[in-house]
This record gives sequence, C-alpha cells and structure tokens, in this order.
Amino acid sequence: MRILFLCLGNICRSPTAEGVMRRRLREAGLATDVDVESAGTGGWHVGHPPDPRAAAAAAARGIALESLAQRLERSHFDEFDLIVAMDRDNVADAQAVAPDAEAASKLRLLREYDPLAVASGELDVPDPYYGGEDGFERVLDMIERGCEGLIAEIRGARAAGA
Ligand code: 4NP
Repeated sequence: MRILFLCLGNICRSPTAEGVMRRRLREAGLATDVDVESAGTGGWHVGHPPDPRAAAAAAARGIALESLAQRLERSHFDEFDLIVAMDRDNVADAQAVAPDAEAASKLRLLREYDPLAVASGELDVPDPYYGGEDGFERVLDMIERGCEGLIAEIRGARAAGA
C-alpha cells in the first residue's frame, strides 16, 4: 500500500505526517507493507528540506523529517492508493489535479481518522507557516492522533482481508 500526505507547501505539515507515520508504521510492524511520501499543492518550495521549525518540533519527539518538497502531480493519483490531505483547501486544489472522479476518490482528510476531531467537526490541520512555535506543537499533536487512527484503519482492513 502507498500513502501520499498532502499540504500546501510540503515543508511543514505533510513532511511531519510522513515522519510520524513512518515511525508509527515501524512500531506497528507495517513498515515493509506501507510506503509513505508527501507532496504539496503549491510549487514554491520544490526541492527544499522541511521548515526548521517543523523539523525541530519533530526532533524533540525523536522523529526525523527527511523529505524534500515535491509538487502534487496527476501521476501521483496512479502511484498512491490513498492521498491524505491536511485541510480542505488541499482537497479542493487536489481535486483540480486529479485525472478523474475515481482518482479524486482517493482523497481523504487526515483528521477524518481522529474520532475526537470528527466529533468536534474541526477537520483541518491548520497551516503553521505564518504562526508561532506553539502552532507546530499543536500541529504535531493533531498529526499524531490522525496517524494513530490511520494505522488502526490499516490494521482493521488487513484483519478483514482487504
Ligand atoms: P505547509 O506550510 O503547507 O504545512 O508546508 C506552508 C509552507 C509554505 C507556504 C505555505 C504553507 N508558503 O506559502 O510558502
């Protein structure tokens, strides 16, 4: 299975989700079964490493962010089984890139996998780029919960033989 995490710049939220998910997949013994990458709907930071503030917040939790930014392309919809976006703007932008409706049906929001977020109705991981340091901590907390739910979903699907 291949999962692509998606945000706007691919230097803050989606690289964080990629790093968190990779660690959780390792812990769950699923690292060889599930590949993760990340991308952005915008192209400004293509080739850049993650934002130092995102990298520092992740490093404080023992998570290395090692991706280089790439922009979402039509071909990603073929290459990945699931495209997990950080906010609804990312979903709308990605729908415009998707080759067809079937491809667009691979789009999800990360917080859809967090039951507390679903209950609250607050499904966006907010963009921390222009905010303060505490924004990065909050974003990490949201991403950890979303990835926990996503791992549970993957485990459930495997147990069901999917
Ligand atoms: P991200 O944050 O989408 O979480 O990577 C952003 C990074 C850069 C920009 C916007 C959002 N930017 O406009 O350059």
